[in-house]
This record gives sequence, C-alpha cells and structure tokens, in this order.
Amino acid sequence: MSRSNAALSGTFTIDAESRINRLGFGAMRITGKGIWGEPADHAEAIRTLKRLPELGVNFIDTADSYGPNVSEELIREALHPYDGMLIATKAGLARTGPDQWTPLGRPEYLIQQAYASCRRLGVDQIDLWQLHRIDSKVPADEQFSAVRKLLDDGIIRHAGLSEVSVADIKAASKHFKVATVQNRYNLVDRTSEDVLDYCSENDIGFIPWFPLAAGDLAKPGSLLDKMASAHDAGPSQIALAWVLKRSPVMLPIPGTSKVKHLEENVAAAAIELSDEEFAALDTEGKAWKGH
Ligand SMILES: NC(=O)c1ccc[n+]([C@@H]2O[C@H](COP(=O)([O-])OP(=O)(O)OC[C@H]3O[C@@H](n4cnc5c(N)ncnc54)[C@H](OP(=O)(O)O)[C@@H]3O)[C@@H](O)[C@H]2O)c1
Repeated sequence: MSRSNAALSGTFTIDAESRINRLGFGAMRITGKGIWGEPADHAEAIRTLKRLPELGVNFIDTADSYGPNVSEELIREALHPYDGMLIATKAGLARTGPDQWTPLGRPEYLIQQAYASCRRLGVDQIDLWQLHRIDSKVPADEQFSAVRKLLDDGIIRHAGLSEVSVADIKAASKHFKVATVQNRYNLVDRTSEDVLDYCSENDIGFIPWFPLAAGDLAKPGSLLDKMASAHDAGPSQIALAWVLKRSPVMLPIPGTSKVKHLEENVAAAAIELSDEEFAALDTEGKAWKGH
C-alpha cells in the first residue's frame, strides 16, 4: 500500500456493509464562494473527487445545502455508482444566500430533502443521512420522528446528528439508533469533548468538522511546528494525526477543492504520533483560548 492511503487511518464499522476507512472527505469546499453555486474551477473539483478512491478514501460527507445541491451533483458526476464508497449527506438547513444558513426542521421538509438527495446522488437509499441541525422552532420529537420514518421507509440506511449535546443524542436515541454525530472539533476547539467521550463509549461514529484547525499552536517555533518538522510534515497534518489518535470512533472529514491539498491531508493517515507527542499536544490544545 502506498504511504498515502486513507486505509492507514484504520477502519470504522457502522454495519457489515458499511466499513469505512476512518479518514474521510468533506465535500463542502467543492462549491462556490460562500458555499454557494458552482466551484471556481469545475475541472479541479471533479479531479479532486475522482482522486478519492485512488487514495483509499471511501467516506464522503456532503449536504443538500452545500451549493445548495451543487456538492451532491458533483459527487454524482465524478463518482457514481460509488463502488465501495459510503456517501453521507444531511438536511435541515435552508439557504437564503451565500454564507447564510437557517435551521429548517419541519418534518415534511426533512423528508422532501432526503428524497431530493436520493435523486441528486442517483441512489435508491442514502447510506448515512444526518439531521444537519435540530431546529429550535420545531419540537425535537417531530424532527426525530421524521428521521424514524425515513429509516422505516428505506429512504436512508443509517441516521446521524450534527451539532448536538449528549442530551440531544439520548433524546434522539429514543426514536432511532444514532449511527454518527458530527460536531466541530479539533486540536484547539475541545468544546465537544463530552460528546466525543459519549460517542467513544457507545460506539457512535464521531465526525469532527473543521478538523485541520490548529490556531496559534502552528506558529513558527511552536511545539506543533517542531513536531511537524520532526515528522517531515506540515502542522495541519500533525493536527489531523492528533485528531485520528484521539479516539477509534473519530472519522475526520477534511475538506478541500484541490487535489494537492487532498493528497497532503490523506498523507496524515500515515503519521504515527507517540503517546508522549499526543499528550503534549493535548495539553497545549486544551490550554489554548484563542478561538
Ligand atoms: N455539520 C456541520 O455543521 C458542518 C459545518 C462545516 C463543515 N462541515 C463538514 O466538515 C468538512 C470540513 O470542514 P471545513 O471545510 O470547515 O474545515 P477543514 O476541512 O478543516 O478546512 C477546510 C479549509 O482548509 C483548506 N485546506 C484543506 N486542506 C488544506 C491543505 N492541505 N493545505 C492548505 N489548506 C487546506 C481548504 O481550502 P482549499 O479548498 O483551498 O484546500 C478550506 O478552506 C466540510 O467539508 C463539511 O463536509 C460540517
């Protein structure tokens, strides 16, 4: 196996048919500015997506709202019929313009959007569908019941949540098995530590978004910078290697619109941090108050 292969990150099993390499790909960045419209370089976006299976990446995260629609459409253009890949999508955020996201959790809207994602992706069933946000304007039970219905009707095979607390996961679990949780998490943003611990204890996949962030820890001469030099790597690769080592349920989805950046990110799967390196970064990351 090439030293640049997502398989080196290890695997996570959702079910017998859904065993994925832990290092995945976030497909939000293959759209236009403000996550709106077509990407500036369509050909490079398609090249980036086509490179994924060659690098062993078989887990892609997208959403109806990325573009909107554009990300799912490009994934289909580049990768359909997704041989051996797990495509995860989401719904629950309406788009009213570039960089504008509004939670919309009406059950009929969630169901409509799951059907629409099936059509755009060209599948009869979505492998993993995530409720992008719990909409505070709609009773949570109504939103969870819509997810239950999508599972019962076979429109989606597995269901996950995004930006939730442990209490939210427990509430949703009364309606359906929560397969994954997607919260913002990285070396310097540790606000979801309790959610990650809960997922680790309950074998729920934890999908950290914005996983490359390292904040000021990456400044020249810092511990992270020195560690990166020692591993012949970049600081964001070390930040990703740290995230991967944090828990066996961790499924990071670094996002990029460029083949070169994708290759760099996948190369992080080959970086093995020692327990001492992990602990030293852990301490610095927890202490960082810059975000
Ligand atoms: N659930 C949610 O609410 C939520 C919210 C946000 C994101 N997400 C998901 O999480 C994924 C990742 O989140 P994210 O995109 O915010 O964070 P990220 O993957 O940590 O960072 C992406 C940014 O870093 C750049 N980048 C990526 N690889 C690079 C490299 N090797 N060298 C230099 N720059 C690099 C990208 O620009 P280039 O295109 O120039 O490489 C992009 O601007 C998204 O794609 C999406 O699927 C979920």
